[in-house]
Parts: sequence; C-alpha cells; structure tokens
Amino acid sequence: MLVEVLLCVAVLLLLHLWSNRPSTLPPGPRRYPIIGSGFADNDSVKRLQQKYGDVFSTRFGAVDQVFLCSYKLIKEAFAKTEFADRPSWRVFNFLSDGEEAGVIFSSGARWQASRRFLLRQLRDLGMGKSSMDAAVAVEAKALVEDFRRIAGSPTTLPDSISLVTLNVVWQLVASRRYNLDDAEMLRFLRLIRVFQEDVVFLVLPEFFPWLNYIPAPLMRRLSRQDWLQKSAKQANDMMQEVVDQHRASLDPDNPRDLIDCYLLEMERQKDSPSVIFNDTDLRKNIFDLFSAGFDTTSNMTRYVILYMAAHPDVQRKVQRHIDEVVPRGEVPASRHRARLPYLDATLQEVHRMASLVPLGVSHAAATDVRIGEYVIPKGTPVSACIGLCHKDPRYWDEPEEFRPERFLDEEGKFVAQREGFLPFGVGRRSCLGEALARMELFSFAAALLQSFTFAPPEGRKVDLGYTMLPGINVPKVQELLILPRT
Ligand code: HEM
Ligand SMILES: *[C@@H]1O[C@H](CO)[C@@H](O)[C@H](O)[C@H]1NC(C)=O
Ligand SMILES: *[C@@H]1O[C@H](CO)[C@@H](O)[C@H](O)[C@H]1NC(C)=O
Ligand SMILES: *[C@@H]1O[C@H](CO)[C@@H](O)[C@H](O)[C@H]1NC(C)=O
Repeated sequence: MLVEVLLCVAVLLLLHLWSNRPSTLPPGPRRYPIIGSGFADNDSVKRLQQKYGDVFSTRFGAVDQVFLCSYKLIKEAFAKTEFADRPSWRVFNFLSDGEEAGVIFSSGARWQASRRFLLRQLRDLGMGKSSMDAAVAVEAKALVEDFRRIAGSPTTLPDSISLVTLNVVWQLVASRRYNLDDAEMLRFLRLIRVFQEDVVFLVLPEFFPWLNYIPAPLMRRLSRQDWLQKSAKQANDMMQEVVDQHRASLDPDNPRDLIDCYLLEMERQKDSPSVIFNDTDLRKNIFDLFSAGFDTTSNMTRYVILYMAAHPDVQRKVQRHIDEVVPRGEVPASRHRARLPYLDATLQEVHRMASLVPLGVSHAAATDVRIGEYVIPKGTPVSACIGLCHKDPRYWDEPEEFRPERFLDEEGKFVAQREGFLPFGVGRRSCLGEALARMELFSFAAALLQSFTFAPPEGRKVDLGYTMLPGINVPKVQELLILPRT
C-alpha cells in the first residue's frame, strides 16, 4: 500500500514538474500535462489579467504563450525587432507548398523585404490617396444601389458588403473589378474562406504534438487535407493565371498594379544572392492581401451599420454633417473627409467598441527576450490584448459607453491617434492596409448614411454582441431595416 502511495506521489510530482511553466516565463494559470492551461480567448484574457497582471503566460497543449495587456507594454515591445517574428507554424505555409512565403506569416529577412516592398508599392499605387479614391467610389456607388434593391422591409445585410471590399483589393493587386454577382468572383471568395476557417485542424498538431502519431491516412481524413489541398491548388492555379496574363502584357514603363510592380522587382533582383521574389512568393503575397484585407474591412462596415442602428442620435448627427458637406447626388469621397471629423470620430469609436481583431495576430519572440523581470524564450508566441486595451479604464472613462466625442478635440477636430487605441496593431508589424481600410470604411459609411437610415425592426433591439471566429470577432447576423432617405 505504502509503495503504491509513494509511487502515486512520485508520479504526481513528476507531472507537476513536467507541466509547470519555466520559471522565467510570466506568471499564469496552472498547467496540466497534455492540455496545458486551456485556450485563452477574448473573454478569458480579462480574467487572467485581473489575476496575474498585464503580462501573463498560458499554455495551450504543449505551447507556452505570452499575453501583453497594457497599451504601454505592447507599444514598447512591438517597436522592437525581437518581437517582430511570427510563430513558425506549418499551417501558415499551406498555400505555398510548405515554403515560407508572403508577408503576414513570414519572419526575419523575408518578412522585412516583403513588407518594405509592399509598403512602398501600396503607397505608390495610391493607397489612402486620391488616386485610389475613384476605385473606392465606384464600389460605394455599387453598394448603395444594392442596398436600395432590398430597402424597406427587415433584411440581413447583403453579401455585397464583402464583394465591394474584395473588388478594392482586386483593383489594387490586378486592376480588376467584378460585377457583384460574377460567378468567378463568388468562387474565389469561397476559396479564400476555406483557408481562413477550415484550416483549424491543420494547426492543432502544433499544440498537441501527439496528434502526429495518429496514422497518416486517418489524420488526412480528419483534417480534410485532400480537400484542402485540392482547394489550395485551385486557388494557386487561379492566381497563376492572373500573374501570367500580367507577365504577357507587362509594360516596364507603366506598371498598372501590384502584380506588375512585383514582376519588375523580380526582374531587378534576379541576380541578387538572396532572391526571395518568385512566383510562389508573389501568389502568397496576393493571398495575404486578400485574406487580411477583405473580411476585416467588410465586417467592420457591418459593425458600423449596426452601431448606427443602435445609436440613432449619433446616426442622425453623422447624416446631418454629411448633408452639410456633400451635395446630394454626389458620392462622398476623400476630398470631403477633412470636413467630416464627426464621421471619422464615429468610425474610430466603432473600432474601439468592436475590437474586430481582439488579440491581434500572434507575434513570436525572435530571440530569448526580456520583459521586465521575465525572459521569453525564442519562438514563444506573444499576443497583444487589443480588446482589453480598448476597454481599459486607465485610458478610457466609462469605456462601455459609445461616445464618438472621445476622438474629437475641444475645437471639434478629429484626433486619429490616442493612447490605448490600436485596432490595427502597433509597431513593426502593424497593419499594412490601415490607410486603405480607413479610406474604404469612410467612403462606404458616408455613402450608405447619405442614402439610408438604419434601424432595428419594429419591437426588436440591435444585438451588438459578436461571434468568435478564428482570430476575429464578427458581428452577429441579424435583420435590420434599411430606410431610404428622402
Ligand atoms: C478594418 C480593417 C482592418 C483591420 C481591423 C486590420 C487589423 C490588422 C491587425 C490587428 C493586424 C496585426 C498587427 C500585428 O501583427 O501586430 C493586421 C496585419 C496586417 N494587415 Fe490588416 N486590418 C484591416 C484591413 C487590412 C487591409 C485592407 C489590408 C490590405 C489590403 C490589410 C493588410 C494587412 C497585412 C498585410 C498585415 C500583416 C502585416 C505584417 O505581418 O507585417 N489589413 N491588420
Ligand atoms: C466576416 O468574417 C467572417 C470570417 O472571415 C466571414 O465568414 C463573414 O462572411 C464576414 N462577413 C462579412 C459581411 O464580410
Ligand atoms: C521560390 O523560392 C523558394 C525559396 O525561397 C523556393 O523554395 C521555391 O521553389 C521557389 N518557387 C519558384 C516557383 O521558383
Ligand atoms: C472582448 O472582451 C472585452 C473584455 O471582456 C469586452 O469588453 C469586449 O466586448 C469583448 N469583445 C470584443 C469584440 O472585443
């Protein structure tokens, strides 16, 4: 009996030692073998912050993760290259045949080169500037027309909200635009979503390495790998076709879009010793722009509409300002923007309240790196609790109140940046498409609110809650009334 008891104690002790956090990691909840301490999502990080403070660590399965929950800490950390890597999970390279490629999930020299290139090109191609304005205005008009079609009785918001943002990325990347009911466009849309939503199974072995011992045929079935691979091939073939068309009609003196610029860069760099610019990388960069650029912006547009329906006083004020600045029959555009500070402030406040990407996109420590008294080992995923910062009473008074005035100064001028505000992240990895996203949101919101008033259906309330999807919290699908303004 004594032997059994001693054995049990010994085993428990071993398990305890095995599963405990390395002493240099920030504090966190108890770890158990195999499961770790559980999955940390937008809601649990709040409890963990209250218990362990602004820096804590958890373990999901076999992987330690660090969370930063104060704006000051996040800003300091993410300004450093030591925090600018991404975790090296195989799933991120699914679309590029297992090779690291593209910008969102690459690290080190490849990431730096891609990011520098994309930032320069996006700026030159007019992201956030007036040359992109025309393209966005066309989509804003199409959106209004589509809304007019379904106005009058309670309806869920139409798919055109996604399709117009998809078109903006297409325009930037390949000078293309599709009609909102184009079959090829819908096929492409479905393909991209496959990789955002259905790859969850592929990421699990990173956290639960014992899954690698499941016989391969069974694992392939469970993770639907064959089907995913077929979809990946379809997506890549589709993209390669677009690239090849560009190559065939390339005019070196007049690059039309991002693909043209990339092809020219590829040519320039072909003799450099560290070539990273090739077709695989180009296709992945394009996928990155699509996957980062369209569901985010379209879901934010949806949030804006829902917040307006829930706050009729704010909606009326925004509409009054639009009417004062933009003549009826004219599509609101960037040139009106400086005179519509209240609309910009309202969009900021929706960003703050909604925190679309509540935990950002995971970074990883590029070397063993110190935060205060803790040491975070190389490769450890590090996340920013963006959603918590946006409701942090140290930065916002009455954080649960929807109050666009927070983003106006005493003279009513728009204040774009505030401490504690980081819907697009902060530092070296911050969103590459922020200027474009802001431009789209402004134009779409202005055009829609110029033409319609949004309200909950008779006797119902707007639900501002969210559905948690991998990486983003999207608004709940619900019916609204779209009322044409006269
Ligand atoms: C409302 C819309 C959007 C929101 C809220 C948003 C938010 C974010 C966030 C939080 C990150 C992660 C930052 C980090 O890792 O610390 C990110 C990264 C990124 N975003 Fe956006 N984004 C939006 C729209 C766009 C658009 C329109 C594009 C491009 C067309 C874009 C391209 C990217 C790219 C390429 C990255 C990765 C940057 C890198 O790893 O260096 N995003 N975005
Ligand atoms: C919001 O994002 C989710 C996940 O990417 C997507 O399934 C959904 O269609 C998006 N909604 C809109 C209106 O774009
Ligand atoms: C692109 O470059 C990577 C290495 O950076 C290489 O593995 C891959 O095969 C290349 N792809 C093409 C199409 O040349
Ligand atoms: C996330 O959690 C915070 C804090 O618990 C909460 O205020 C917020 O509404 C949640 N949702 C989003 C989308 O951030």
